[in-house]
Amino acid sequence: MARVFSGVQPTGNIHLGNYLGALKQFVELQDQEECIYCIVDEHAITVPQDPKELREHVLDVAALYLAIGIDPKKSIVFVQSQVSGHAELGWICTCNTSTGELFRMTQFKAKSGGKESVGTGLLVYPTLMAADILLYDAEIVPVGNDQKQHIELTRDIAQRMNFKYGDDCFVVPDGRFMKAGARIMALDDPTSKMSKSATNELSRISLLDEPNKIKKAIMKATTDSDGVVKFDIENKPGISNLMTIYAAFTDMSFDEIEKKYEGHGYGDFKKDLVVIVQDALAPIRERYEEIRHSDELIEILEDGAKRARAIAEPVLKRVQDKVGFGYDK
Ligand code: AMP
Ligand code: TRP
Repeated sequence: MARVFSGVQPTGNIHLGNYLGALKQFVELQDQEECIYCIVDEHAITVPQDPKELREHVLDVAALYLAIGIDPKKSIVFVQSQVSGHAELGWICTCNTSTGELFRMTQFKAKSGGKESVGTGLLVYPTLMAADILLYDAEIVPVGNDQKQHIELTRDIAQRMNFKYGDDCFVVPDGRFMKAGARIMALDDPTSKMSKSATNELSRISLLDEPNKIKKAIMKATTDSDGVVKFDIENKPGISNLMTIYAAFTDMSFDEIEKKYEGHGYGDFKKDLVVIVQDALAPIRERYEEIRHSDELIEILEDGAKRARAIAEPVLKRVQDKVGFGYDK
């Protein structure tokens, strides 16, 4: 069994992009591999957070994990800040990363907008993400495409430290990306990715959206004027994005979808997609409501943190020894 690690930030509006790019993989992997799924609250504070809201969002994401089908008997589910090794190993990774590497990160450039007044955490964030993964000797990291660069950096840090301190310092992990769903675009603008923070509510479908909101967002989604259901990212990004969502939920190929809608306009296609998405999200919303305010939720997270610590502590100790922390006995 390979060890799997991934994380999601505790913010509101977990959307179809998060689900089809990352969360769906989490569930698929748990039957074959040893999976560890984290709610990364330490990453969340790279931008200002209201403490009360942050605490709520941690439980929101935990409940969503369970609602989509992550089984705490099979997988470890826990909150990052409850395992101190993340921050400790994060510092060691930071000291083995150059500032140039961090300034080159696309996500940093996008989030900082070139301003020097942004928090340092935003810059250093990828080294904490590397530590999250390396702390568990994880081999597989299921994520969306936007995390590819961070996974590459994690591999670079691991390889660099293996060279410096010996091959057994870190396991070098691989990213795992979905064929359909690794990059879901905004419904109102198929040239930018679906995001949690876009101001237009109709740009995304959140996993907990009501059926009516789902319908509105899909029916209003930007397409083009030629009315042919055909996959062509370059020239028809809007319909291609909707086809990606369709394919991810039905396991149909783009060819099959094109054949099915030959001679139909976008209207028929969109109406079917509304039903597909509504049907897929309804049971998630239902389970979420059952779990979100249960006592069981916090017990699961506490048990998860205990199990996570048991894996993390010896790895941290191993790396600390290599770096020269502690005493020769
Ligand atoms: P975040 O919300 O940034 O913590 O992201 C959680 C996971 O969702 C990460 O694996 C991201 O790569 C993935 N993700 C975020 N946005 C999208 C998107 N628009 N399409 C596909 N995957 C995404
Ligand atoms: N950086 C990821 C995101 O914004 C979240 C994350 C933090 C993560 N640590 C991780 C993902 C470790 C995978 C593995 O989406």
